[in-house]
Amino acid sequence: MIPSHVVNRPTGRETGSFLALDLGGTNFRVCEVVLDGHSGARVRQSKHTITEAQKAAPGNELFDFFADCVYNFIAENGQAALTKKYKLGFTFSFAVNQVAINKGFLILWNKGFTNSGVVGADVVALLQAAFHRKKLNIDVTALVNDTTGTLMSHAYIQPSTRVGVILGTGTNCAYVERMENVTKYTPTDTPDAKEIIINMEWGAFDDEQVVIPRNKYDVKVDRTMNVQGKYTFEKMISGMYLGEIVRFVLVDLVKTGEIFKAGASPELNKPNHFETAFMSRIERDHTLDLNDTRTVLEDMLKIPRTTLADRRLVKTLCELVGKRSARLSAAGIAAVVTKMNKLDGCTVGIDGSLFELYPHYSNRMRDALREILGISAEYVVLEQARDGSGQGAALIAALADKQ
Ligand code: GLC
Repeated sequence: MIPSHVVNRPTGRETGSFLALDLGGTNFRVCEVVLDGHSGARVRQSKHTITEAQKAAPGNELFDFFADCVYNFIAENGQAALTKKYKLGFTFSFAVNQVAINKGFLILWNKGFTNSGVVGADVVALLQAAFHRKKLNIDVTALVNDTTGTLMSHAYIQPSTRVGVILGTGTNCAYVERMENVTKYTPTDTPDAKEIIINMEWGAFDDEQVVIPRNKYDVKVDRTMNVQGKYTFEKMISGMYLGEIVRFVLVDLVKTGEIFKAGASPELNKPNHFETAFMSRIERDHTLDLNDTRTVLEDMLKIPRTTLADRRLVKTLCELVGKRSARLSAAGIAAVVTKMNKLDGCTVGIDGSLFELYPHYSNRMRDALREILGISAEYVVLEQARDGSGQGAALIAALADKQ
């Protein structure tokens, strides 16, 4: 429960041109966002993939890479653009102890990042220093979590938005809380603020492991991925982990002789070789013979021969793991909306590949919401949000200017 220092929601009338940097997990983006003042924005962006080596490099190298990408991005507008002064919103989608709108200390890495020298450091200062090394005239004016960005960018076009959720590589939620309820934080620089966005870091919910029942595959994922004992809720929900849960079950079923009687494959035994994207593909396979499932299993995972019964079993397994993820995230949303006393109506802006691309995901969430909230579920609107990490960061940079 981290106060984001964002105490205003957008009106839709914000204007101006801002840079945004977005480090979410697999991708890194540089964006130039021009807010038009009519709930609209123009965005130019460049996208980069972060390699496994970059995720393990010393922190300064990672931040120098960011600065290089920004340099090249600005240089596309001509050499003169490089001397201009810019304001930048930094979407850094990791657990950060945020102490000011533009200052926050990394609590721990997740999503496979292990760069040294960053945990415990102010990530804005690290980025600012990398810009100085590159002689870029950029002011990092806002540090933003992707959920906060999502909430803000969706509120820019849909004012009833009170919650922002990410369901992608990781999962998390931000919501609007009344200031009087936030006892851990006094807004000294904005004493009149009535509300504040809270970054819940809900991925770390139940790290004590007392609330949510876990099975032996969850325990295995926890032991083998990222920091053990941390991010328990996220490990049962988000794209980084679902495929690995399925893989562990398959390996077990092979051992007990219940699947792939012609033998498994070395691929199936390699960590993270069953991608969550495979689950999407298998769940989308409605052919009689489950042909696309066969492609995934035999061509991509090199299983020598599969029977229809094998493929059906794999599909059921994907359904179980995919459904559990959707239902747990719906449970989270139901809890937040109940806590906010917003069962009479509010919009939840949701972004991320699971919500956007995984078949049936949003319907499963809706079904679960109905089970939990009954008729009130009808007033909780789940909407696809877009580009919270780019436009949301720009909006927060715009509002930080006024704050
Ligand atoms: C992880 C991060 C969190 C982020 C989420 C979604 O849980 O700790 O800050 O919002 O992933 O990207």
